Amino acid sequence: MKCLAVCILSFAWAVKAQQSAYGQCGGTTYTGPTSCVAGYACTSYNPYYYQCVPGKKNTHISVSSTASIKTSTTTSSAVVTTETGYPKTHGLFFNIDGVVEYYAGTNCYWCGFLTADGDVDHVFADIASSGLKIVRVWGFNDVNTIPSTGTVWYQYLASSGSEINTGEYGLQRLDYVVASAEKYDVKLIINFVNNWSDYGGIAAYVAAFGGNSSTWFTDTESQAQYRTYIEAVVSRYTTSSAILSWELANEPRCSGCDVSVIYNWAASTSAYIKSLDPNHMVTMGDEGFGPLPGSDGSYPFTTSAGGYDWQMNLEISTLDFATYHLYPQSWGTSASWGDLWITTHAAACVNASKPCLLEEFGYSDECEAVESGWQSLSLDTTGQAADMFWQYGDVLPSCDCETSQDGNTVYFNTSDWTCFVTDHIEAIDAIYG
Ligand SMILES: *[C@@H]1O[C@H](CO)[C@@H](O)[C@H](O)[C@H]1NC(C)=O
Ligand SMILES: *[C@@H]1O[C@H](CO)[C@@H](O)[C@H](O)[C@H]1NC(C)=O
Ligand SMILES: *[C@@H]1O[C@H](CO)[C@@H](O)[C@H](O)[C@H]1NC(C)=O
Ligand SMILES: *[C@@H]1O[C@H](CO)[C@@H](O)[C@H](O)[C@H]1NC(C)=O
Repeated sequence: MKCLAVCILSFAWAVKAQQSAYGQCGGTTYTGPTSCVAGYACTSYNPYYYQCVPGKKNTHISVSSTASIKTSTTTSSAVVTTETGYPKTHGLFFNIDGVVEYYAGTNCYWCGFLTADGDVDHVFADIASSGLKIVRVWGFNDVNTIPSTGTVWYQYLASSGSEINTGEYGLQRLDYVVASAEKYDVKLIINFVNNWSDYGGIAAYVAAFGGNSSTWFTDTESQAQYRTYIEAVVSRYTTSSAILSWELANEPRCSGCDVSVIYNWAASTSAYIKSLDPNHMVTMGDEGFGPLPGSDGSYPFTTSAGGYDWQMNLEISTLDFATYHLYPQSWGTSASWGDLWITTHAAACVNASKPCLLEEFGYSDECEAVESGWQSLSLDTTGQAADMFWQYGDVLPSCDCETSQDGNTVYFNTSDWTCFVTDHIEAIDAIYG
């Protein structure tokens, strides 16, 4: 686990003899051939065992391509380097398909719960056509009672024996989302658990294994099952070019906890994910709470808001970039306060030399009055790599029906869409070309 990234890189250079079909080709203490005979790919199942299995793509050999670094007039230019084929960070930006620039995206929590392939393709085609590059989807759907056939669920949690649903109405729905994202060249952020009880979440683990929403982060049984689930998801897509990043949770909070609880949980879980999949980035998925230089002392800038310290968590080396959200109306702050939230986080990202992603934001007022200002500020602020509004909306072809309207939904090709997407993409293109 410890030297995985380095070990993996050295494998790429140390290729000599070729391992036969189904032979071992890697692992922490392994010293034999690390490439496979034609038609087989070296695939890591865990840090200790890599095996030659039928396939073309090696999980641990990087594809070289020349990165084109697009620079803005307000950001100093970066050095052009050779990069791998998987999305990664480049200084304070993301390198996606070899292009380093500011990106925009959106949230589609329900994408993996759609049951018609055509609906998924429709959504990704629309998103791709608009210039949005990143889509965040829920990678969890936990239940304590197995629903009737036809209802999507990913994981059944019970102390007597949990079950991961790899069937047609299980992770195969997420498989289709990944396949569609690959087809339309959109990158995904996939998370593993919800703090909130929608689609199960921490509450479903607590119902199965006991404890409460705060002890969950250190509960042996819950954490063991959470890791089992993470492995089940990650192992399906370790070689997919469509994964931007794995994400520990949606909005993790630990009420009444010392900040070390979430810090330790995030550090160990992210290291575990890196051991399963050294190809892809890992991030937190949190709201960004805690003290920061420049804070006005308002509630979101306290450790009590989330039970963690966002700036302290920036130290975790196995988290590649930082996430934060922005909902002034839920937090008792004003729309203009959002500007301070963005600039203070971006400054801390600069200080930590990690990109910042404004991963969710919403405000129930005209986009022109509030959110478009946040988007422009994010685009112009050093340290900000991307922004993603909450949430994407569309009309699904299978039912000719609109997707979830939660008060913050922006439907494709509506007047709202022009403000949230078309104008913003134009502003990005005006800078980065
Ligand atoms: C989300 O986290 C907070 C803090 O622990 C907690 O108060 C809340 O109940 C959580 N939500 C659920 C549904 O467990
Ligand atoms: C959770 O349980 C622990 C241990 O019993 C207790 O100290 C803590 O107050 C509880 N926290 C919440 C949020 O219920
Ligand atoms: C920079 O980060 C260090 C921790 O790495 C922290 O102690 C310091 O306060 C930060 N400074 C600013 C200006 O953010
Ligand atoms: C969405 O709107 C754009 C700009 O008006 C237009 O070019 C495009 O064809 C529309 N797409 C669909 C699927 O309606």
